[in-house]
Amino acid sequence: MTLLAARGIRKRYGQVEALRGVDLEVGDGEVHALIGDNGAGKSTLVKTLSGVISPDAGELELRGAKVHFHGPRDAQGAGIETVYQDLALAPSLDAGANIFLGREPLRGGVRGRLGFLDRSRMRQEASVALADLGVELPSLEAEVGTMSGGQRQAVAVARAAVWGTALIVMDEPTAALGVRQTEVVLSLIRRVCEQKGVSVLLISHNMAHVLEVADTVTVMRLGRRAAVRRAADTSLEELTLLMAGLGGDAEPDAEAEAEDER
Ligand SMILES: Nc1ncnc2c1ncn2[C@@H]1O[C@H](COP(=O)(O)OP(=O)(O)OP(=O)(O)O)[C@@H](O)[C@H]1O
Ligand SMILES: [Mg+2]
Repeated sequence: MTLLAARGIRKRYGQVEALRGVDLEVGDGEVHALIGDNGAGKSTLVKTLSGVISPDAGELELRGAKVHFHGPRDAQGAGIETVYQDLALAPSLDAGANIFLGREPLRGGVRGRLGFLDRSRMRQEASVALADLGVELPSLEAEVGTMSGGQRQAVAVARAAVWGTALIVMDEPTAALGVRQTEVVLSLIRRVCEQKGVSVLLISHNMAHVLEVADTVTVMRLGRRAAVRRAADTSLEELTLLMAGLGGDAEPDAEAEAEDER
């Protein structure tokens, strides 16, 4: 079953054609990796899925129904959560407050008046969510700003896992992490997928991690899809060749490179 399909997505930034009619299909409940060289269009593509940018052309379908996102709220409303590279966490708040950031439960009164933040409920629900995911933090009261990169990343992933009901998008979630913290985040990604039944779309430059954690790999090159592989049926060597434009399924490169010349 296809959870999300993107078809013929195009996006131009001035002279740069970042996406030249790219297709992507993310299956239900899978970890799907998106790989490709710098500038291939990966971040631009996932920004169209999370509603951050509007494509110039192309269509998105979620569970077979066409969707149009005019902003991140629309994508969130459809169950798509994004873990941004800068994580967008509030450093002076604890993990619970961060998980509920912008969606805080209120106790008593009307929102914005009389009502006040139900901090104990946030801590309680956050602690359940974090425990479910096997995330260990020094303390639930600790400010996120005092945590390590891996712990902060785990809080950001947990937040996406709490709210995401369809797809969790992550743009290079382990880029700034050490070996051990990377392992923690990779296993967290798998657990989110397995426990919640949501799909994860993961951008990564680390082929070994991709092969370790992903079910399916889409290779992008020059703003198009160059290949799709089951992780079990491919190798580091093949993925590296595909990223370089060798041995792909289609032959879009001649055309794309000709466009580049123009
Ligand atoms: N806001 C923008 N304004 C102008 N050009 C942009 C913008 N965002 C992306 N681009 C261009 O679009 C192309 C694709 O960029 P994108 O960030 O999607 O690549 P990427 O595959 O994520 O690369 P990386 O692996 O380096 O993160 C690049 O040529 C980039 O310079
Ligand atoms: Mg990028």
